[in-house]
Amino acid sequence: MKITSAEFIKSAFKRSDYPGELLPEVAFAGRSNVGKSSLINTLVNRKNLVRTSSSPGRTQSLNFFLINNRIHFVDFPGYGFAKVPLKVRAQWKPMVEDYLKYRTTLKLVILLLDIRRSPGADDASLIRWFEAFGIPFLVVLTKSDKLSHGKCIAQQKTIQEFLLLKDEEMVCFSAVTGRGRQEILTRIMKVL
Ligand code: GTP
Ligand code: MG
Repeated sequence: MKITSAEFIKSAFKRSDYPGELLPEVAFAGRSNVGKSSLINTLVNRKNLVRTSSSPGRTQSLNFFLINNRIHFVDFPGYGFAKVPLKVRAQWKPMVEDYLKYRTTLKLVILLLDIRRSPGADDASLIRWFEAFGIPFLVVLTKSDKLSHGKCIAQQKTIQEFLLLKDEEMVCFSAVTGRGRQEILTRIMKVL
C-alpha cells in the first residue's frame, strides 16, 4: 500500500462525535508512551501528522485521520499511566469499549506493546475484548531498535506465550529504523 495523503479529521470523546461510518477503519491502541502516534507517523511517512510526546498521556480522545481519502486511522488514548488524572482515566474504558463494540466500520485494531516490557493484565484484557467482540487484531511490538537481535527474539517469545498469540498475530516494529512498516501496511491492506 502506498500512502499518498493523510490528514487529521477530528477528535471525539463520544459516539455522536465520530465521523460517519462511511470508510473502513484501523484503530491503534496501547499503553501511554508505547509509540502509537509514532507508528501512525511512520506508516504515513510524515514526521508530525500525529503529535508525539515524551510526556505520556497526551492523547486523551479518539483522534480520527483520513488516509488516501479511503481509510480512517484512529489513534486511541493510551492507558495505564498513573499521572493522568483519575477523572480522565475513568473515561477511558467506557469510551474505548463503546467504540470497539459499536463501530461497524472497524476492520482491524493494532495493539502496541513495548518489546522491552512484560505485558500487563490490562494488555491481556484488551486482547480478550477483541476476541469476545470478534474484532481482527494485530499485536505490534514497538521500539525494537532498543534491543539486540537476540533479545528481541527472546522477548517476542515471552510476550507471545503470555498473551497466547499465534505467530501471525505479532509483528516487530521500530519507528527509528522503519522495521516492520511494510509488513504492517500489507496486513492493513489485507483486511480492507
Ligand atoms: P500517548 O499518546 O501519550 O499515549 O503516547 P504514544 O503511544 O502515542 O507514544 P508516542 O508515539 O508519543 O511515543 C512516545 C515516546 O517514545 C516518544 O519519545 C517517541 O519518540 C518514542 N518512540 C516511539 N516509537 C519509538 C521507536 O520505535 N523507537 C524508539 N527508540 N523510540 C520510540
Ligand atoms: Mg499519542
